[in-house]
Amino acid sequence: MSLLDAARAVREMAYAPYSHFKVGAAVRGVSGAIYRGCNVENVAYPEGTCAEAGAIAAMVAAGETELVEVAVIADSPSPVPPCGGCRQKLAEFGRHDTPVLLATLAGGTQATTVGELLPGRFDANHMGRAG
Ligand code: THU
Repeated sequence: MSLLDAARAVREMAYAPYSHFKVGAAVRGVSGAIYRGCNVENVAYPEGTCAEAGAIAAMVAAGETELVEVAVIADSPSPVPPCGGCRQKLAEFGRHDTPVLLATLAGGTQATTVGELLPGRFDANHMGRAG
């Protein structure tokens, strides 16, 4: 199964009764394994979580901390860009050149990278130490 197919499939599981906007994300760990996540909303709106955050949490829970590929899909007119917080989350585990594929259910795609999504990111060097 391709990473995009995995994201498309898990999108169906999204819990989005407030926005009615379902998002699916899949990340490939350096091991080659695929981890999936969907958005999970909450009646206390700020407590909702994004699809990308879910996929990253699944990867870390499985013992991986390096992602090599990302796919995100939604039923939107144009490929949905990850929110600011998710860009920082992706940057934590990806590299500058890690490919990110943004897609629509209708078949639109936009290829980008973690570094393009978050130039000038905050990292451990800004704290003057390694982590
Ligand atoms: N959402 C994601 O899951 N990922 C994105 O990249 C953009 C937004 C979710 C959050 C919320 O549940 C819904 O989409 C509407 O913002």
